[in-house]
Amino acid sequence: MSWFSSLLLTLFIVSLVSAQARAALRIYDASSTYRYAGCWNETTGIAGSSGARALAGGISQDFPLNGPMTVETCLDLCAHGQGAPYRLAGVEYSRQCWCANRLSSLSARLPDAACDLPCDGDRTLACGGSLKLGLYNLTESGKNGAVRAGGVGSAAVAMGVVVAGVVMMVGL
Ligand SMILES: *[C@@H]1O[C@H](CO)[C@@H](O)[C@H](O)[C@H]1NC(C)=O
Ligand SMILES: *[C@@H]1O[C@H](CO)[C@@H](O)[C@H](O)[C@H]1NC(C)=O
Repeated sequence: MSWFSSLLLTLFIVSLVSAQARAALRIYDASSTYRYAGCWNETTGIAGSSGARALAGGISQDFPLNGPMTVETCLDLCAHGQGAPYRLAGVEYSRQCWCANRLSSLSARLPDAACDLPCDGDRTLACGGSLKLGLYNLTESGKNGAVRAGGVGSAAVAMGVVVAGVVMMVGL
């Protein structure tokens, strides 16, 4: 084999292996709180966005490099924002989590495969891409989960009243 055909063969094998590694990324969609809603473009670099993020007006967190970030970590964060869950959660760049109630109209949906970076906390899962968001949308049961959490709160209050009543009776 000439050096040239060895080079071609090597390049071919390298591209096969890296394609395989990319294809191995799974899209997490096992939450009942949020459902996967596609891969979406960040808007910071887009003309007319004034540098605003696709998911703005909510909260975000940057997890440490090679830290615990998975899709679930992000969904958990967004589900517990300021009393009510945020409607949208986005994973980006392996370790960023964005929570907001609306998506910028400047953001475009991309093919799922464009979100090609693994989560730092689980390298089998896709966690967005470079300036690309793996987007998750709050489900009905996610909204009801917030209602249920309120229900637990009132159950606890009711229990407190009962306990106080018993204490008073015993005292009497
Ligand atoms: C999120 O889900 C709602 C319906 O529950 C739908 O109207 C909306 O378009 C979805 N948003 C995205 C970004 O997929
Ligand atoms: C995605 O955003 C980049 C800027 O970060 C922009 O150059 C590109 O055109 C956008 N792609 C789409 C499909 O909107």
